[in-house]
Amino acid sequence: MKDKVTIHTLKKLRQIGQKICMVTAYDATFARVLDDAGADVILVGDSLGMVVQGHDSTLPVTLEQMIYHCRAVTRAAKRAHVVGDMPFMSYQVSAEEAVRNAGRLVAEGGVGSVKLEGGQEFCETVAKLVRASIPVMGHIGLTPQSVHKMGGYLVQGRDEETARRLLADAIALEQAGVYALVLEGVPLELAQQITDRLAIPTIGIGAGVHCSGQVLVCYDLLGMNPDFKPKFVKRYADLYGGIRGAAETFFREVRAEAFPDEDHSFKSKTIRLVASNPDVKPAEREEKPALAPVEGQGPIYGVPV
Ligand code: KIV
Repeated sequence: MKDKVTIHTLKKLRQIGQKICMVTAYDATFARVLDDAGADVILVGDSLGMVVQGHDSTLPVTLEQMIYHCRAVTRAAKRAHVVGDMPFMSYQVSAEEAVRNAGRLVAEGGVGSVKLEGGQEFCETVAKLVRASIPVMGHIGLTPQSVHKMGGYLVQGRDEETARRLLADAIALEQAGVYALVLEGVPLELAQQITDRLAIPTIGIGAGVHCSGQVLVCYDLLGMNPDFKPKFVKRYADLYGGIRGAAETFFREVRAEAFPDEDHSFKSKTIRLVASNPDVKPAEREEKPALAPVEGQGPIYGVPV
């Protein structure tokens, strides 16, 4: 196994100017593929509320659900550093609650760090988490948990005042102890200024090329949703088309009795089919077992011989 990525690896990657590759995953199957593909960081994002659960925001996601998904991902990710998102209201009420809840993501979910959204107002919380030995990734700019405050999923920091505030947030979070910072939905010029100003890595999503790394929601980059095509998403595959096409072929073959063919069926030399007995009429066959044991062979149901 290749060396496990840690928060220290990520700092080193930033120092040597090697871009950090981060992607979301919510289950073991995806985590395994993305880990094998070379992800440095796998984020169990609360975006699962939208792409897995079908909500129109991340707000309904609970801590229990996050722990469940984190556990699935950490079982499969052998190399990548796994980050667990702190869901809405798991850290906003008090720093003490934040430590308790983040501790559960680490202890029960198995993640190596947690991520939380927000700026200077959460510095005390970040510092407490770090003091409790829980590494924290920050997240500023377009912060989906603040959708109602922002008035929608809108690019942030386009004007001088909000740009200055975001830069101040970034600096304050670094001082509070975050080991990396997600910049979401901000102009690339601002992301560049923030990145240049910080020693920790920045990870961009809709924040341009100058960040220390990039993150995308796995279903977005894989083209799983034909109706979702925001400017910042690049589709690297058409899995919607691929999956739909494969499923349509399966259904067609089932209906045509082309599947399962001999290659995908089990055979037995010791079983005589009741159905091959010309004396048994179809109506009676329905009442009887489809397969009859050969004398002396014992029961055969469910067990291919
Ligand atoms: O929840 C999530 O997937 C995220 C990323 C988009 C950064 O926070």
